Amino acid sequence: MGSQGSSLDALNRWVDDVARLTEPASVVWCDGSEAEYARLVAAMLASGDLLPLNEKTNPRSYLHRSHPSDVARVEHLTFVCTPSEDDAGPNNHWMAPADAHAKMDALFAGAMRGRTMYVIPYCMGPIDSPIARCGVEITDSPYVVANMRIMTRMGAPALARIEREGRFVRGLHSTGELDPERRFIMHFPDELAIKSFGSGYGGNALLGKKCHALRIASHQARNEGWLAEHMLIVGIENPKGEKHYIAAAFPSACGKTNLAMLIPTEGYRKAGWKVWTVGDDICWMTPGADGRLWAINPEAGYFGVAPGTGANTNPAALATLRHDAIFTNTAITADGQPWWEGLGEGEPAVDWQGRPYAAANGPAAHPNSRFTVSARQCPSWAPESEDAAGVPISAIVFGGRRPSLVPLVFEAKDWAHGVLVGAAMGSETTAAATGAVGVLRRDSMAMKPFCGYNFADYFAHWLSFDKPGAKLPRIFHVNWFRKDAEGRFMWPGYGENLRVLDWMIQRVEGLAVGEDTPIGIVPARGELNTEGLAIAPATVDDLLRVDIDGWVEELNAIGTYLDGFGARMPGRLKAERQRVSHA
Ligand code: GDP
Ligand code: PGA
Ligand code: MN
Repeated sequence: MGSQGSSLDALNRWVDDVARLTEPASVVWCDGSEAEYARLVAAMLASGDLLPLNEKTNPRSYLHRSHPSDVARVEHLTFVCTPSEDDAGPNNHWMAPADAHAKMDALFAGAMRGRTMYVIPYCMGPIDSPIARCGVEITDSPYVVANMRIMTRMGAPALARIEREGRFVRGLHSTGELDPERRFIMHFPDELAIKSFGSGYGGNALLGKKCHALRIASHQARNEGWLAEHMLIVGIENPKGEKHYIAAAFPSACGKTNLAMLIPTEGYRKAGWKVWTVGDDICWMTPGADGRLWAINPEAGYFGVAPGTGANTNPAALATLRHDAIFTNTAITADGQPWWEGLGEGEPAVDWQGRPYAAANGPAAHPNSRFTVSARQCPSWAPESEDAAGVPISAIVFGGRRPSLVPLVFEAKDWAHGVLVGAAMGSETTAAATGAVGVLRRDSMAMKPFCGYNFADYFAHWLSFDKPGAKLPRIFHVNWFRKDAEGRFMWPGYGENLRVLDWMIQRVEGLAVGEDTPIGIVPARGELNTEGLAIAPATVDDLLRVDIDGWVEELNAIGTYLDGFGARMPGRLKAERQRVSHA
């Protein structure tokens, strides 16, 4: 397979060149079949790359333990290599393409000696969707192949589409020696190429995900007039049977997977509300003939954060994980079931590093331990996830971890104001990337680690969608993470977040009037459904209050942040900030 047909010449030549450079013992073209997956799993069980779990409670599921120094994305070692440094922008680390290629080719030279080199054709998005795009990842990691099979449409159909289109993103990956000193994730957006060396961690190694579907795709999207965003897509069906699709951008480990799989609380369930999961991490949106934005989830699986996923918080994720899942860096129980903090049942016996569990060694599961599982296993999986045209987006939501100041929800006055709200996003850092946790940083549109070009140009691109004939979604901002004086979350979150989505849909349908404030529109008294809510009415008032003095300070900080992008920053956005400051 893979060696015939003239339109595959470029692919074949690249594969040959890579094999000559990396010197693998053998080359395997992946077809994505069940049998191939079974062979890979058997080989990884034999090598210890995968450990079996309890076959009765977790059929066909496995545990992978990564190197303890290789457990998260490495933003300080991630580069965008555009010809000019300015094009990458202050939001990215930059290296000149020629220097980056030389550095990476030296690392890759002979790197696959004695190993198998896998060639993985994949499609990001439904295979027949015009919004979907293809890529080929070359890797020496069978763990990557197994994960790519779950996360993408991988194998023969993708190769056939590549043969038809002739265009694909080239991703080259080797786990190398897992030496943090010899670890780099390089992107060459103009060449549609990625080179990743020295890490086996998901976001660094599953190149279809953050590398292709966000960094390379955002760059492509700008040139072609669409958007590649770090957003979940969720369908909310009201009791009338009408569905609204909402796309939401939260930074890594800030609640995308949870909101995408939200289970309505009793009151909403009884009233007939349903929630449908289209995607939990990435959203590609393009204007349709009707002027609306139409979105697909380019992925086919979830690579989710395990800790905090419990029967009380995300039962849908637990149901999804019952079989055919790969767990990475979780703990296990005495009878071989995966375990993590927040699971709410069982006891850890062996920690994520394979040591007998001892509280003195810290958490049993790594805080960024993950599960990989097919999206179709989710009880709320939306069949329209396969629609070639995508789903129409009614609302875009921005949000992050803000322990103070930022209200539970507010709506932007219009598109330009919404772009400012997204650009100004801030959030406390999490364990999804190496470095300090809990530090407030600006993370525009949750794309700080993922935008493949200068943020100033990215904001201009967002603004450009506001043109005659466009029927753009409304833009909202949420904050599930406000804390009280004792450091406890004030809002119950999870399933209760549907109350906030309900208000958004009422706004979209023109049923809620809202209350104007200088920073945007908040629910007017009584508009947010608080029936049966377990928190005091005074806390709800607190969560919705706009603290003017605090916002004056916040807007100054936002101004300083935007000024950091210099002359490339669109004047429209600066003017918008001025307008809000003086409102
Ligand atoms: P993602 O990486 O953006 O997909 O984030 P996840 O949905 O996996 O959630 C990351 C962490 O945030 C988990 O520990 C969740 O339990 C927690 N989380 C998610 N939603 C909420 C919420 O509404 N409230 C609170 N307090 N925590 C949440
Ligand atoms: P996520 O990121 O936390 O947004 O799911 C995945 C990753 O870190 O690769
Ligand atoms: Mn997630």
